[in-house]
Amino acid sequence: MVTDNINSLRFVGRVVIVTGAGAGLGRAYALLFGSRGASVVVNDLGGSIHGDGNSNKVADVVVEEIKRNGGKAVANYDSVLDGDKIVKTAIDAFGRIDVVVNNAGILRDKSFTKMTDTDWNLIHDVHLKGSMKTTKAAWPYFHKQNYGRVILTSSHSGLYGNFGQANYSAAKMGLVGFANTLAIEGGKKNIYTNVIIPIAGSRLTEDILPPDLFEQLKPEYIAPVVVWLCHEDCLENGSIIDSAAGWAGKSQIVRSNGCVLKKTLSDEVTPEAVRENWINITDMSNPKTFDTIQEVTAEIMTSVEKLKDGNSASNKDVILRTNYQSRDAILYALGVGASISKPEDIQYLYENHENFSLFPTFYVTFGPIGCMSSNLLEDGIPGLQLDPSKILHGEEYLEIHKKLPTEGKVESRFRIVDVLNKEKGTVILVQYETYDLTTGDKLATHQISIFVIGSNGFGNTRNSPHVIPCIDPPKRKPCASITEKTSADQAALYRLNGDLNPLHIDNNIANMAGFSQPILHGLCFLGFSVRHVLQTFAGGDPDLLKSLKVRFAKPVIPGQTLRTDMWRNGDRIHFQTSVLENNSNVITGAYIDLKEVRPVPIKPNLCSSISLKSNAVFDQMADYVKSHPDEVKKINGVFHYIVTQNGEPQVDWTLDLKKAVVYKGKPKEKVDTTLTIDDNDMVELALGKLNPQIAFMRGKLKIKGNIMLTQKLKTLLNVNKPKL
Ligand SMILES: *[C@@H]1O[C@H](CO)[C@@H](O)[C@H](O)[C@H]1NC(C)=O
Ligand SMILES: *[C@@H]1O[C@H](CO)[C@@H](O)[C@H](O)[C@H]1NC(C)=O
Ligand SMILES: *[C@@H]1O[C@H](CO)[C@@H](O)[C@H](O)[C@H]1NC(C)=O
Ligand SMILES: *[C@@H]1O[C@H](CO)[C@@H](O)[C@H](O)[C@H]1NC(C)=O
Ligand SMILES: *[C@@H]1O[C@H](CO)[C@@H](O)[C@H](O)[C@H]1NC(C)=O
Repeated sequence: MVTDNINSLRFVGRVVIVTGAGAGLGRAYALLFGSRGASVVVNDLGGSIHGDGNSNKVADVVVEEIKRNGGKAVANYDSVLDGDKIVKTAIDAFGRIDVVVNNAGILRDKSFTKMTDTDWNLIHDVHLKGSMKTTKAAWPYFHKQNYGRVILTSSHSGLYGNFGQANYSAAKMGLVGFANTLAIEGGKKNIYTNVIIPIAGSRLTEDILPPDLFEQLKPEYIAPVVVWLCHEDCLENGSIIDSAAGWAGKSQIVRSNGCVLKKTLSDEVTPEAVRENWINITDMSNPKTFDTIQEVTAEIMTSVEKLKDGNSASNKDVILRTNYQSRDAILYALGVGASISKPEDIQYLYENHENFSLFPTFYVTFGPIGCMSSNLLEDGIPGLQLDPSKILHGEEYLEIHKKLPTEGKVESRFRIVDVLNKEKGTVILVQYETYDLTTGDKLATHQISIFVIGSNGFGNTRNSPHVIPCIDPPKRKPCASITEKTSADQAALYRLNGDLNPLHIDNNIANMAGFSQPILHGLCFLGFSVRHVLQTFAGGDPDLLKSLKVRFAKPVIPGQTLRTDMWRNGDRIHFQTSVLENNSNVITGAYIDLKEVRPVPIKPNLCSSISLKSNAVFDQMADYVKSHPDEVKKINGVFHYIVTQNGEPQVDWTLDLKKAVVYKGKPKEKVDTTLTIDDNDMVELALGKLNPQIAFMRGKLKIKGNIMLTQKLKTLLNVNKPKL
């Protein structure tokens, strides 16, 4: 009877108490636990169905059965009100306790009219107090060993009521509340409490049900559900699980959307207002569920809060709820190019990192989902035919109000704030605020400009007071630049954050939209630039980001190389992003406002490995030198390259052609020639786009030492040409 499959759930070393295990459900549980390797305490008063006798020891029979099958079990005959004695039996016999299945119960049906106090008390004693006493006795052991599983047995009579069972219903619903709080108090200690709602043909229901139905309600059909809930692999906690007849499901309390009973915050609430709104208050057509008391409270408070914001006309709001976990945070960071090869990125990639953080542009992912998964845009512009290939994400603004949690339940409320009539189309301004459903805090505000090509005629103004404008960078040279290549799979990876628009992966769709191949999400390369700015001016601290504004100017193809040029202006960092392969600006008019600037001192080695393009040139040369030692030895010189960025030396390279080696760092031998050149110019030189003589004459290439020797480097530089 014991399956020894490697995947089978075992309870080796675990000690389980099952109360009321002499027959029916309890017996089925005890037998199944026993067969799965658990040591079982089979508790039963041994009484008759009405709980008042003490006739034969039914517990012994079950213990015998478990032992006959090769399992371990002891009997206990105490009342659940003496739960400490039951737990003592487990400790005395097996030395520990891991699982308590509170199953013992009695039934006494009479209508409420006829019910006496004794009726009430007896039911509450056995079901509610008994479960409490037994669980309470085990609780200190659970705490100490940081492990425990508790099952409480409730009933549909509690959840839905049942004639003649007022006392029983009350006690059964009491157990649900009891479990809810145990789940919270025990959760952190790895003690999980769940409620089972069985319908079984037990000795309690035998008299009531027709025989064929009774057969379908075999306790053996429910026991596996309970046994799984009690296994260490099962992480369910605080749930109500229904099971019967080989079926199982989860129950949860739902609530209507509700409605605010006043027009302004200071209005009185009158019984008449309640009457008027009764249909909405009780409208269960779109119910909500909540996991915590904080969530439900916060939700009510944010509904009322809307009155304060003056946007109580929020019926047009599109609500997007997002429940994200740390893995979503990590996936997003990977999507925008975070990598463990960059020390400042680990905090976005490892959930156990001391400063594990959500990358601060994470909530931009809600924008496309909120706009496209609803009728927001169509409703905003009646008559507009939405053709996805005609929609461009023009601009994005975001402002962070509170530290964004690394996991959470949030609600974003979308609305159209304006529709602008432009020459070549219509601009729809969509704004959304995101609230933390647990605390009620407003976390972030976003504004998206959506450009609908060729749809002019909609909207009546050309400009809107709601528009947050882009600002061009200063005319001077940037203070810093970072270059980073995207991956060919960048869009494929970024899609997993929720924007599944096929334009980013499907060739046919991209062609239909007029692109030669799928393009990268604008919000994806935005993330790259934000990383570059934070890395350069915020010491990598995501909490310093206050707000940002960007315009998406041109598309990027996955695999292309991005360069973010940055200009500091107080706490504002202007930036512009371009694609190197193409020399086209893809983000323009952009800036990030930081709470404070915390520039990182440039560490040449760290920085160069991330950002210098010319490294690739030297790597190519190194390969060539290595494979043509005799040829290069003829040059017979040692060259020292100093690569600069914005006039600052960033990295040294040595071409020791006497020994035929190329390495990063200053020369170890006597130098013949020292060359100083900007990173970009070095690449241009290698690409053949910049003539060395002209570079020298214009001061772009500074040469000290043996100038003539550099003539011989030509072939070496040329090796890059076909490859870059
Ligand atoms: C529950 O109350 C009913 C009356 O409604 C009574 O007949 C029954 O005995 C009570 N149950 C118990 C176990 O006391
Ligand atoms: C159950 O425990 C988990 C893990 O600690 C916890 O996250 C969860 O909030 C708990 N469930 C309830 C309903 O409290
Ligand atoms: C009540 O519900 C109707 C239908 O959903 C809606 O039009 C109306 O605005 C709601 N009233 C309030 C006060 O929420
Ligand atoms: C976490 O952040 C604090 C404060 O910025 C810093 O001192 C600490 O070194 C960081 N921890 C790690 C592991 O980077
Ligand atoms: C360069 O940019 C233009 C305009 O976005 C685009 O059409 C073209 O395909 C790009 N070329 C390359 C090689 O990426």
